[in-house]
Amino acid sequence: MRIGFVQFAPVFGDKEKNFRAVKEMLAGTIADLLVLPELFATGYTFKSQEEVLSLSEVPGEETSLFLKHLAGICKATIVAGFIERENSSCYNAAMMIDASGLIATYRKLHLFNKEKLWFSTGDRAPEVYTVRGVKIGMMICFDWIFPETCRTLALRGAQIIAHPSNLVLPWAQQAMITRCLENHVFAVTANRIGKEQRGEDDFTFTGQSQITGCRGEILAYAADDTACVLLTDIDPSQAIDKSVNPFNDLFKDRRPELYSL
Ligand code: ACM
Repeated sequence: MRIGFVQFAPVFGDKEKNFRAVKEMLAGTIADLLVLPELFATGYTFKSQEEVLSLSEVPGEETSLFLKHLAGICKATIVAGFIERENSSCYNAAMMIDASGLIATYRKLHLFNKEKLWFSTGDRAPEVYTVRGVKIGMMICFDWIFPETCRTLALRGAQIIAHPSNLVLPWAQQAMITRCLENHVFAVTANRIGKEQRGEDDFTFTGQSQITGCRGEILAYAADDTACVLLTDIDPSQAIDKSVNPFNDLFKDRRPELYSL
C-alpha cells in the first residue's frame, strides 16, 4: 500500500489558493492513502467565532468537493482537516473521502489552547474504516499527547492512523514513535509549515511530517520548512501482529481489570 502526506504552508482564509497549492503539489502522484494537514484549507489562527463560522462547512460543500475531485486524480483515499459545522457548533474535524464520496468525519477529541474558544469538543468515539481491505483510523494533532486516542483506534483494529496536524510543540514526532511501537500501528503525521501571526497570536508550525512504521521506525521524514509530498510503500498486514516476542503480546498482556480507578 502506498501512503503519504502533503506538507505545505496554507494561506489563512483563502480556500481556493490552498486547494490550488495542494493540487499542484500532488500533480502526477498516485497513492492509496494521502494525508493533508489539520485545517489545511482555512489556516489555524482564528480571531473570532464569526471567522470560524464563515470558514466552516457541512460535508458536501467546497472542501469535500475539492478532495473528492483530487482523490479521483490521485486514485487515493484522502484524509484532511476542515471545520465541520453542525447546527451552530463548529468542530475541528478531519474527513476521509475518496472518488466516490465521503467515507467519514472525525471530530478532534482533545482541543489545544485557544481551539477551546472556537470549537466544540469532539462528541463521538474514534472509529476505524476499512479502505482497500486495510483498517484506518483518524486523529488530529494534539490527540497525540493522549495515548488513549491511538490505543482506542488500535484496539478497534486500526492498522494505520491518519494524523492531520498543525503542530507547534516540538514533541509529537518523537511521541508518535512510541504511539506506533506500543500499538504496532503505522501513522502518517501530516504537519504544516510556516507562520501565522494574527491578533495576539504568533504561531510557527514545526513541519517535520513523518510516516512512522508499526515497529517505531521512521519511514519518511520531512524538513521543518519545506513544502513537500512524501510517499512510502508499506505492508499494512504487519500491523495485525501484536506480538513482541514468543511470550509478550501488546494487547493480550494488557491488564484492564487492574487499570480502572
Ligand atoms: C494542535 O493540536 N493543533 C497543536
